[in-house]
Amino acid sequence: MQNTRKISQDLYWVGGSDRRIALFENAYPVPRGVSYNSYLLLDEKTVLFDTTDHAVSRQLFENVAAVLNGRALDYLVIHHMEPDHCSAIEDLLLRYPTLQLVCTAKAAAMIGQFFELGDLSARTVVVNEGDTLSTGHHALTFVTAPMVHWPEVMLTYDTTDKILFSADAFGSFGAMNGNLFADEVDYAAEWLEDSRRYYTNIVGKYGVQVQAALKKAAGLEIKMICPLHGLLWRENIGWLLEKYNAWSTYTPEEKGVVIAYGSIYGNTENAANILAGMLAERGVRNIHMYDVSATHPSYILSDAFRFSHVVFASITYNSGIFTNMENLLHDIAAHNLQNRTIAFLQNGSWAATSAKQMAAVLEKLKNMTVLEPLPTLKSSVKPAQVEEIAALADAIVASM
Ligand code: FEO
Repeated sequence: MQNTRKISQDLYWVGGSDRRIALFENAYPVPRGVSYNSYLLLDEKTVLFDTTDHAVSRQLFENVAAVLNGRALDYLVIHHMEPDHCSAIEDLLLRYPTLQLVCTAKAAAMIGQFFELGDLSARTVVVNEGDTLSTGHHALTFVTAPMVHWPEVMLTYDTTDKILFSADAFGSFGAMNGNLFADEVDYAAEWLEDSRRYYTNIVGKYGVQVQAALKKAAGLEIKMICPLHGLLWRENIGWLLEKYNAWSTYTPEEKGVVIAYGSIYGNTENAANILAGMLAERGVRNIHMYDVSATHPSYILSDAFRFSHVVFASITYNSGIFTNMENLLHDIAAHNLQNRTIAFLQNGSWAATSAKQMAAVLEKLKNMTVLEPLPTLKSSVKPAQVEEIAALADAIVASM
């Protein structure tokens, strides 16, 4: 049975949500599930904007058929060829024999990479930056957005209704709970954390490209944003753009200290707790602690994008960095974090070298300030280390 919603005069949400999924991209925990948004425009021509993941494609087909109510599907606009959005292309081409695909040249090439559909050139309208497609009452303008999040990505701006179909941009983890619009929920309390974790982990590396897309969007009058995941925006869009501006310029949203520690028997954890307590005594209120063995790195990376300071505390393990800490550091380096004040704390029962190696993983990141001193434990915290930790707490507070 269809599960659709009319979201403007001629536009319907026809997507679906998956709450059975454990790991988005087989990498990121999504305890609140994820939605795959698809939109259907009923004009003189009918236009579907993107498909969905296989997980909800049956719902998509029922939704599209119900909204079309016997009409043909004329166009499928493909903004992004990642399989969480393109999985139903083949089925739709079979179900709707006159369907034309509308996409960038790069996306057209990717269709051939992902599918065995033969020569689709007669069924494909390749569009470039600024091209417009008239569907009758509506005029759709295409805006390229390479690397947000893949190179073939484009956005569509409906110049008639001032709606931006934003692909992965402005998306979020989290399944739909009936409400489709951000203004229908307490977004800051219920969705922002997943929205930030989605952005930073999925698109966070491509801040320069996101900035380029935001500059293009700034020239448009936008009444509604329709992303491929998560809630739609029709109010308070400026607030969302401010968040994206901070994330894509690697600007901390807030002053605060993230303490990520890797500890086996609890001694490095003890040092991290002592540091946190000393920061609190010195008036710091925004302190967020994570055991890297207990918390998935996507959450810690997201907080590293959110806050101004990050402390990495790790034992020395097999002469290297504790494995889970090493994963986190490589993840942060791969996502291009910048403009942070960081500090290290190390432990080693015979040769403490983890701090030097942690610093090496992050050394290519831009505009990172490394605070001194470097508290160094030999197995456990002793009075000398308490002094070093206190000095580091002073340095963190002085830099905030
Ligand atoms: Fe939601 Fe990059 O795909």
